Amino acid sequence: MEEPLRPRVAVINQKGGVGKTTTAVNLAAFLADLGYRTLLVDADAQANSTISFGIDANSLKETFYDFLVSVTPLERIIRHTMINNLDIVPSNDNLYAADLDLSQLDVYNHFDILHNRLNDSGRDYDFTVIDSPPHLGPLTINIMRAADGLIVPLKADFLALQGLAILIKTFRRIKRAIHPRLCLLGILITMYSASQNICRDVVNNVEKNFEGLVYENKIPMNVTVAESPSFSLPVMLHGPKSAGALKYKDFTLEFLRKVYGALENA
Ligand SMILES: Nc1ncnc2c1ncn2[C@@H]1O[C@H](COP(=O)(O)OP(=O)(O)O)[C@@H](O)[C@H]1O
Ligand SMILES: [Mg+2]
Repeated sequence: MEEPLRPRVAVINQKGGVGKTTTAVNLAAFLADLGYRTLLVDADAQANSTISFGIDANSLKETFYDFLVSVTPLERIIRHTMINNLDIVPSNDNLYAADLDLSQLDVYNHFDILHNRLNDSGRDYDFTVIDSPPHLGPLTINIMRAADGLIVPLKADFLALQGLAILIKTFRRIKRAIHPRLCLLGILITMYSASQNICRDVVNNVEKNFEGLVYENKIPMNVTVAESPSFSLPVMLHGPKSAGALKYKDFTLEFLRKVYGALENA
């Protein structure tokens, strides 16, 4: 029998403040709630995913950084969350050293480090969701190499398109040079306000240029989503009936409808 697919998905965009962390946290929470054993990897030194679950990042002795560069076993680092089926690999600001360290490690291929670490970790989550830092560098290339597919959150504002073009170019280069099966699992519009002309214009433009790649479910600008991290909860638990929670759930279901097929055909 063929091995079941256990997708690794990176939520990625080199721009900050576009909804990467919010999407990673809430996608992972809904996947776990649907019964999928899910691992959320906080691969950003700002540790926003970690903090969103109420974990005190500064007090952590071992984090994603140690897993990545000093081969600390995942078991020592993983924390269970308040959601059944959802574990997190927390981060803290030690990870700021990673870009430099990765390029100095004595290994055959510096882009395969995270990929190999995850493969060797001995864990078999149904989904691994990786929250990425807001820049392109050795760590983000490692994340793209380790992932089967990418979700690109896009905040529909004036400068979004320029950033998106750079990201797609990088995706294509990585696909060509180091990871031919890497899949673009779609662009997710975040912080959407249908009443704003600029939002509608940008979304129309993205849908025209990236036909078939934009998720039908757009995440609205929603205060309950924004305040959930301050309650140390995903929006699913903090405001399950809020517009933001409902849309993140619909997005998760839309993601599930496409992910396995997309990866099998990659
Ligand atoms: N749908 C939303 N509605 C309102 N605020 C949001 C929404 N999504 C994200 N935010 C807020 O926008 C800011 C940036 O989001 P975040 O997920 O941290 O982006 P990134 O990880 O890309 O830097 C955060 O303060 C977050 O709470
Ligand atoms: Mg973030």
